[in-house]
Amino acid sequence: MQILDGKLVSQAVKDDLKKKVDTLKQEGKKTPHLVAILIGTNGASETYVASKVKTCGEIGFESTLIRYEDTIDEATLLKKIEELNADAAIDGILVQLPLPKQISEEKVINAIAAEKDVDGFHPSNIGKMVQGQPAYIPATPYGILLLLEHYNIETKGKHAVVIGRSNIVGRPMSILLSQNTATGNCTVTLCHSHTKNMKEICLQADIIVAALGKPEFLKADMVKEGAVVIDVGITRVEDKTKKKGYAIKGDVDFEAVAPKCSYITPVPGGVGAMTIAALMKNTLLAAEGK
Ligand code: GUN
Repeated sequence: MQILDGKLVSQAVKDDLKKKVDTLKQEGKKTPHLVAILIGTNGASETYVASKVKTCGEIGFESTLIRYEDTIDEATLLKKIEELNADAAIDGILVQLPLPKQISEEKVINAIAAEKDVDGFHPSNIGKMVQGQPAYIPATPYGILLLLEHYNIETKGKHAVVIGRSNIVGRPMSILLSQNTATGNCTVTLCHSHTKNMKEICLQADIIVAALGKPEFLKADMVKEGAVVIDVGITRVEDKTKKKGYAIKGDVDFEAVAPKCSYITPVPGGVGAMTIAALMKNTLLAAEGK
């Protein structure tokens, strides 16, 4: 069993990006600038956004964090997005999800200019991705592809099972893994909360991507010997023995599943780190107008 080390691979991606940014700066070109909008005080969202902003600093990107109270109205947010769309100094815009219930996620995603949509959530980017055209790919699936690529994991003809059908991870992941590319080329089954025979389907998988947000859902008796297991889960579970009062749990029962795998991602240090690196790659592409 080999660990897919997201920390290591994401560092390599970030080092490469830093070199590219240094070159841009030496050439007198514009420094990539990412704006993150965070609404409310959701603990997990705070952590993710803080990490995105910190990583911008490490690479040499400019970043701006805009915070709103969770009582903000939709029109104010949409007006701010319009302003940022029109601001040539800004290359990438992300609005951290989930949003408070008075704000339509669909309206917000649609409002972000597709060429600044570094999350890859805009229908225009999703549509292009589905057709295999150049597009910003949602950061978590993109990060997983980079990890598969780094470890030369064969996908051609493999059966990939994706658990979870969110617009952010499961659905785009299922599409990307089925594409005729080096990191696609799988036969893909997308499982979700209404899937019957989940265990039988998972047992047929060469590659499993667990992205349903249920701590330790994937058990050892659901995994074939030699499978590749990618764990997207990052749920906070109360743990009084920890200083913060919680532990981070993945969607995979790691201790029991790992011995059966050829490769597995740990939590933390797996997919999470890759997600941020992938977002940074999208931001550089946006700055370069690609
Ligand atoms: N919430 C959970 N994951 C993401 C993400 O990748 N982007 C944004 N904007 N919000 C999220």
